[in-house]
Amino acid sequence: MADYKNFGTKTIHAGNIKDTQFGALTMPIYQTSTFVFDDCAQGAARFAGQEDGFIYTRLGNPTTKMLQDKIAALEGGEACQAAASGMGAISACIWSIAGAGKKIVADKTLYGCTFALLSAGVTQYGVEVEFIDTSDFDALKKALTDNTCMVYLETPANPNMKITDIAEVAKIAHGYNKDIKVVCDNTFASPYCQQPLSLGADVVVHSATKYLNGHGDVIAGFVVGSAEFIQKVAMFGIKDMTGAVMGPFEAFLILRGLKTMEVRMMRHCENGMKVAEYLESQPKVTKVNYPGLKSFKGYEVAKKQMKNGFGGMISFEVATRAEGEKLCNSLKLCTLAVSLGDAETLIEHPASMTHSTYSAEDLKEAGIQEGLIRLSCGLENAEDIIADLDQAFKQI
Ligand SMILES: Cc1ncc(COP(=O)(O)O)c(C=O)c1O
Repeated sequence: MADYKNFGTKTIHAGNIKDTQFGALTMPIYQTSTFVFDDCAQGAARFAGQEDGFIYTRLGNPTTKMLQDKIAALEGGEACQAAASGMGAISACIWSIAGAGKKIVADKTLYGCTFALLSAGVTQYGVEVEFIDTSDFDALKKALTDNTCMVYLETPANPNMKITDIAEVAKIAHGYNKDIKVVCDNTFASPYCQQPLSLGADVVVHSATKYLNGHGDVIAGFVVGSAEFIQKVAMFGIKDMTGAVMGPFEAFLILRGLKTMEVRMMRHCENGMKVAEYLESQPKVTKVNYPGLKSFKGYEVAKKQMKNGFGGMISFEVATRAEGEKLCNSLKLCTLAVSLGDAETLIEHPASMTHSTYSAEDLKEAGIQEGLIRLSCGLENAEDIIADLDQAFKQI
């Protein structure tokens, strides 16, 4: 694969497979479930891994392969495995590392379904899970035990944007046991802003539903890491455990979305900063969580590890849930919907929506307040997003 240096060029050219049959510029959608063998010997050789080539789309597909190679290049990983959703990627990753008798140390602030998978899912199968604040290094050191196989975190974390120092966590975890896998969900930052593998993480997981696709029309996920680990995710996590494979049409749409990723991310970052600054000046807002604000607790670490910008995700607090609901219901341009990273600005109430899998006690423990609102700044003009927020604040 050619070694492209810069992010925008990689999104367009890295991993591309040349169409030698018809010379198509764009990768075709190989919408096929299975692939024809010349003879039994070839089928057997492919199953035995002795011959390259495709077998069956759950095990690999040309459209998806090109996308996987591109994502690996964007994250700076050796290899990538695509999945049917972010949760499909996270599940395949976890089942490729953890098992009965093993322990996962996880941050307590996570996307609601990841929290549910870790707190109520894998624990049914003999996996021990301890939730801590991974930005508290003493707590991390205390939580590591001989059976710990994974440290799992999001930074910025969904939904309160908590920042964890990836390099420091990797140093502590690997210092305790080099085989512990540090897994980072990079959905909120995207590889444009932050590349966890370059900071010492072993594995990156993504909901590609968000910034990587960027157009709100796909559910998809990725796992990125060493070639050896991704082989395990492909041949065990996806093939045998979850079966949650990405379809070729979704792969095509993400390839299309990626071509504009750098310019989209530049605008998301610019809008994020402008809207965060507006929110900071709004008297009805009691707290703004945005990694690019100097007033934000995680600012210094974010500046160090989010090298290209602070992204388009913001959360902020108003005094009560009722005020937050009134605000959301009064918006005309910003759209009340979960998900993020789309062209449209999306707003939601985590405690009752994306994080409704948390009990009231867990929400408190994770620092997710009743009055917390999550905003995904879209690609509209920042002035229009701000004007809409401003008219809605006047209603409360
Ligand atoms: C940080 C994060 N990780 C993972 C997921 C799950 O992704 P998906 O909805 O594609 O399964 C989400 C979904 O919102 C998310 O916000």
